[in-house]
Amino acid sequence: MAMVNGDASSSYAAASPEPLKRVLVTGGAGYIGSHIVLTLQETRKYKVVSVDNYHNSFPAALTRLNEIAQAALPENATNQEKDSAAVDSHTCDLTNPAQVRAVFEKYGKGGIWGVIHVAAYKSVGESTEVPLTYYLNNVSATVCLLQTMSEFDCVRFVYSSSATVYGTPPIIPIPESTRLKADSPYGKSKIMSETIIQDLCQAEPDRWRAISLRYFNPAGAHPSGLIGEDPRGRPGNLLPLLAHMAVGRVKDPKLRVFGDDYPTPDGTCVRDYLHVMDLAKGHLLALEALAPDSKVFDSCSDPARYKAYNLGKGKGMSVLQIVEAMRNATGYDYKCEVVGRRRGDVPDLTADPALAEAELGFKAPQNLETMCRDLWNWQQKNPDGYGAE
Ligand SMILES: NC(=O)c1ccc[n+]([C@@H]2O[C@H](COP(=O)([O-])OP(=O)(O)OC[C@H]3O[C@@H](n4cnc5c(N)ncnc54)[C@H](O)[C@@H]3O)[C@@H](O)[C@H]2O)c1
Repeated sequence: MAMVNGDASSSYAAASPEPLKRVLVTGGAGYIGSHIVLTLQETRKYKVVSVDNYHNSFPAALTRLNEIAQAALPENATNQEKDSAAVDSHTCDLTNPAQVRAVFEKYGKGGIWGVIHVAAYKSVGESTEVPLTYYLNNVSATVCLLQTMSEFDCVRFVYSSSATVYGTPPIIPIPESTRLKADSPYGKSKIMSETIIQDLCQAEPDRWRAISLRYFNPAGAHPSGLIGEDPRGRPGNLLPLLAHMAVGRVKDPKLRVFGDDYPTPDGTCVRDYLHVMDLAKGHLLALEALAPDSKVFDSCSDPARYKAYNLGKGKGMSVLQIVEAMRNATGYDYKCEVVGRRRGDVPDLTADPALAEAELGFKAPQNLETMCRDLWNWQQKNPDGYGAE
């Protein structure tokens, strides 16, 4: 697959670039997955294989990703660079082992260098109503994926976990050493998957390398406004809901604020928002940390090469601060109504991101204003999301 630049017979011929490494991203068409795919494409070092069943996303996202990546190529791009800008996409349901196997078979043993497993269901509330659906999609599918990976000698794994694994944390900002104790089936599905991955790394320490990334609150969109968050149905998260309200997609004109009597500066819940592009870059760092020469596992207390990192900014923002930031970005006059606390909400989820910074070199420099600007840019350019295509 390696391409030789220039005249190989000349003594001045450029050295062959490293061949592209194939990286499989599950949920590649989704909100976070699409930004990860683009970040990988931009390096021109990886060939992305996307797997998605479009349960909560649209294939159009992948077309847009290719457009952005191709537009960024230099005029004299090599064939390999052009190849890196084109995603290999598969419509595949991870709960269907035969479909997963067919994808790996296409590339053969050792054909996929690593996997970033993003696909999951993610609604805390819904998970309390249909727990089995969540355990099947978030846990069983992860086991099936790992089994297939093992069979095809693909043993590098980055996992999308969540701050929800901490439940109501005893210490703020939250270090990774905090005990894991989730309240919802969704949160428990993340703890179970992390545990399974760690067990696998312990069972075969010379084979597997894995990193769980515990995301705090991703927000914003790629600055092009071509890709962004487009949930099917009413948004479950605050920022996309505010963007939908400003663009006129929400019938109820009032924002319900769930509780203003929490032990926080203004009484509303505090979350740690980070720009989705900063979060996506964290995946690139984690992927690189799975390479043979990486030092990140040197500090592991046992032979298993498994680590978990918080990806957050380390700065908490309250619901009212978020509303204010979106008011400034959109000019929309949000009307808020304070209602009672919502079951399962915790007062403060702010990360201690020091470990990810020290060991992976992770930083989340973009501020709330930029997140709101980029979210609004995406929403204005795509008032009906990808669905309009
Ligand atoms: N968005 C957040 O605030 C947040 C916070 C913490 C953790 N996470 C985690 O990040 C990951 C991605 O979240 P997101 O916000 O991008 O969600 P998303 O719904 O936009 O993306 C998930 C993608 O996975 C796909 N998918 C789901 N089940 C599948 C299956 N069985 N087979 C194939 N594809 C499937 C969906 O169609 C979608 O494209 C999830 O694992 C989620 O738990 C998200």
